[in-house]
Amino acid sequence: MEIIQCKDYNEASKVAGEILSNAILAKPNIVLGLATGSSPIGIYNTLINDYKNHKISFKDVKTYNLDEYVGLDRDCPQSYYYFMNEHLFDHIDIKKENVHIPYADPSQLEESCKKYSEQLEKTTVDIQLLGIGANGHIGFNEPKTSFDQKTFIVHLTEKTREDNKRFFNSLDEVPTKAITMGIKEIMNAKKIVLIATGKNKAEAMKKLLSGEITTDFPASILHKHKDVVVVTDEEALSLVKSL
Ligand code: F6R
Repeated sequence: MEIIQCKDYNEASKVAGEILSNAILAKPNIVLGLATGSSPIGIYNTLINDYKNHKISFKDVKTYNLDEYVGLDRDCPQSYYYFMNEHLFDHIDIKKENVHIPYADPSQLEESCKKYSEQLEKTTVDIQLLGIGANGHIGFNEPKTSFDQKTFIVHLTEKTREDNKRFFNSLDEVPTKAITMGIKEIMNAKKIVLIATGKNKAEAMKKLLSGEITTDFPASILHKHKDVVVVTDEEALSLVKSL
């Protein structure tokens, strides 16, 4: 696991954004695994700038997102479908048919998971972008999820709903379930770039960098992957004694 220590969120977004941007330049038909939440927004801005400055094009890029809430329509501003359009896809030349965002039809949850798993089986993600939850979740794989898990419906923990309430009017509005790529599928990516910045990720970074691998802290499985880059900042590393 390679750790890149940046000063703050802006620098981390630039550094992680450049990793993705250079990879797109090197392989124009790259397959990217993408995340939502606050962490990747700066990275997406870096990519949008590189597109607008004619450094990169997304016309042959394919993307697979990690997760989506159950029960939110795609035109709902809190859905991850909406988020991806707002923060990335509406600003670049990606083809709609190359974008894959899981969708769980509430009346066919199992079928929806199977369908996304089958799509993932048919592809190889070159670079998977990840954020990390305060409880160590990656995608929405909450603590105790099996490391062999494929796409499934997760019951979100109260901690995760509480952390994500900032995007909604109240906690009651935060969905209780989500569809998420499983840990096994995340680990199938050739390379993983995890971004973790700010004070509220300090405990998570301390646990991640302790090196202990346990389902109590899902991100710990990343120690078993052969190509992981963690882009982080001073605040997120504030509880880590030495790297
Ligand atoms: C989002 C996702 C989550 C987030 C994590 C951190 O698609 O998969 O694992 O990456 O909850 O969220 P932020 O970046 O908002 O702190």
